[in-house]
Amino acid sequence: MSRLVVVSNRVAIPGESLPGGLAVALQAALGERGGVWFGWSGKTVRGDSGDVHEQQHGGIRYVTIDLNRADVDDYYNGFSNRTLWPLLHFRLDLVDYDRATREGYRRVNALFADTLAPQLREDDIVWIHDYHLIPLAALLRERGVTCRIGFFLHVPLPSADLLMAMPDHARLFSTLYAYDLLGFQTSRDNDRFRTYVRLYGGGRIVDDSLIEAADGRRIRTAAFPISIDTPHIARQAAAAGGKSALRNLHNSLERRMLAIGVDRLDYSKGLPERFQAFGRYLERHPEQKGSLTYLQIAPVSRGEVNEYQHLRNQLEQIAGHINGRHAAPDWTPLRYVNRNIPHAMLTGYYRMARIGLVTPLRDGMNLVAKEYVAAQDPGDPGVLILSLLAGAALEMKEALLVNPHDVDGVADAIATAAAMPLAERKERWQAMMARLLEYDIHAWRRGYLQALESA
Ligand code: UDP
Ligand code: G6P
Repeated sequence: MSRLVVVSNRVAIPGESLPGGLAVALQAALGERGGVWFGWSGKTVRGDSGDVHEQQHGGIRYVTIDLNRADVDDYYNGFSNRTLWPLLHFRLDLVDYDRATREGYRRVNALFADTLAPQLREDDIVWIHDYHLIPLAALLRERGVTCRIGFFLHVPLPSADLLMAMPDHARLFSTLYAYDLLGFQTSRDNDRFRTYVRLYGGGRIVDDSLIEAADGRRIRTAAFPISIDTPHIARQAAAAGGKSALRNLHNSLERRMLAIGVDRLDYSKGLPERFQAFGRYLERHPEQKGSLTYLQIAPVSRGEVNEYQHLRNQLEQIAGHINGRHAAPDWTPLRYVNRNIPHAMLTGYYRMARIGLVTPLRDGMNLVAKEYVAAQDPGDPGVLILSLLAGAALEMKEALLVNPHDVDGVADAIATAAAMPLAERKERWQAMMARLLEYDIHAWRRGYLQALESA
């Protein structure tokens, strides 16, 4: 079996708890197969970028490089998170384009390529992840790398007309033609990419799975919806009940029903709209006041980027408003926590919650939706309220599907979920759980790697 080399900006070293679907998924995927995981150390250092750190845990060798302030600002905070993240999440209004950060993005990708190329063997399989590293394969090829290289995009891919609005879009997106396989979260993302290739990307469609670049190079493209380690999460959730933090949460609820939301503090997650919808539910169902507590876990993410700071202020205001208006001396309707909760503990929270609220305005997949379902008690499962605009909605049709922009609709869904009889909860849950057991993170990894090996 070839050696697997995974490359991503974010690397999850065991013992460091980080929120984010990419890190959680790749840790689970590499855990079984083993390999090398290469990326940024997460550190901002003085002096030059490029110091390399290596460590081995189980079957995974972690190789990370430090970046200095200018590189973090231009590549990570700048082009990745001020330009590409909003663009890929359909938010042209938030896109901030700057040639200096674009140059920094290229510079750091070239540094990754310089560090990685000498370590690669011809029969390695290289799997590059997400929007931070789009040009990496092209830069590796320039350095003589000939092994198979695949790309997987964890975030959505918007319509061609949005992509082409970014200055110099073709210069960036045509570097994708250096890969052997391009993987997307859903068939919709894949279709939109193929439309972009045809209209603005200088390529052509060969058939349902192949595109062709202007130089004749053929690239396979397909959807590979990411998943979770379903049995592991189910076991963790069932075992978590013994933890004192969980007992404390349980006792603090005083028999009230719990609704839970778990999201990085990100504008793509639809948190202001979700808070408003919860407020609307309380207004329209005064008889239910005091019977449902909503816990929102929202660890701060990308706190050096303005839009994220702005969102944080906005949410503090809305949360204060809702609690000021609806709280009673002995009940706080909305508990808002800006702390990262370790993954194993979260599974216990999910299981305690009768309602899972997952209402992003756009999301590549959304692993929280899948984790919430996997963590439920089969004898008394909770109800998932899921945004139609998350990739997960295409696979989880038995959830209560909502449009996150429709505040009244989400408020209605909360009322429906709170009142849903056990038989209906079980029926919906069983259908979703069966699919998650069959198509878990290992099936995702195998499916992708098989396609890459045969590309
Ligand atoms: N997560 C976590 N602790 C937290 C918040 C989130 O471990 O406090 C995890 C969560 O369990 C999930 C991931 O972070 O595995 C978030 O992935 P998702 O696909 O939902 O969203 P992303 O953050 O990747 O946009
Ligand atoms: C999303 C992105 C990942 C990223 C994660 C956390 O899942 O697709 O690439 O790692 O968010 O964001 P961060 O900026 O902290 O890595």
